[in-house]
Amino acid sequence: MYGLVNRAIERLLVDRFGEPLWRRVRDEVDPDLQDFVTMEPYPDQLSFDLIGTASNQTGVPADELLFQLGESWVDFATREGYGDLLELTGATLAEFLQQLDALHTRLGGIFPELRPPSFVCKVEREGLYEVHYSSERLGLAPMVAGLFHGLATRFGTTIEIEHEPRGGPTGHDVFRIRETRG
Ligand code: HEM
Repeated sequence: MYGLVNRAIERLLVDRFGEPLWRRVRDEVDPDLQDFVTMEPYPDQLSFDLIGTASNQTGVPADELLFQLGESWVDFATREGYGDLLELTGATLAEFLQQLDALHTRLGGIFPELRPPSFVCKVEREGLYEVHYSSERLGLAPMVAGLFHGLATRFGTTIEIEHEPRGGPTGHDVFRIRETRG
């Protein structure tokens, strides 16, 4: 994945555990690792190794780190200069959830080798959404749940999520999202 994602992982680990932990993780994963370049694609395995090594070194489950990565993503992306794009994507949670593919399609113009996930959002009724998440990557569902919570915070609402993992009848992850505060 693009360096932007690895930089978000670095930011999360530095903020949560401090710089020395981050340096230990980086050195264990690859002692020759240079600063990440936002616009450069890196092997997916590197991102998974950073999370896995941080989990081993801190005892915090990898899924919890992925959730927090997702939760912090909207703020991180805003600080990295993607605030306008986020503004453009939707003014409510409902609108935003329906525009996730459009958001990544726009990003394809800046990140030519982007291999984005796909999200199909069905509005069941006001405040109740069924979001179908498909990805060529395995194991990122906790990050997606964190992303939805981060988006809810952005729109001043709170949500509860029911998750049907991708081994189920649809063959992909399904998230049923219920707004608990409008
Ligand atoms: C302006 C904000 C955003 C930017 C700049 C951004 C950018 C990116 C980039 C660069 C990747 C790596 C893909 C690759 O390198 O092939 C990615 C992956 C991903 N993005 Fe976004 N994204 C944004 C917002 C969101 C939001 C709001 C969601 C909410 C669900 C989301 C969900 C994901 C997921 C789940 C992945 C992991 C890849 C996968 O599942 O296969 N992104 N995004």
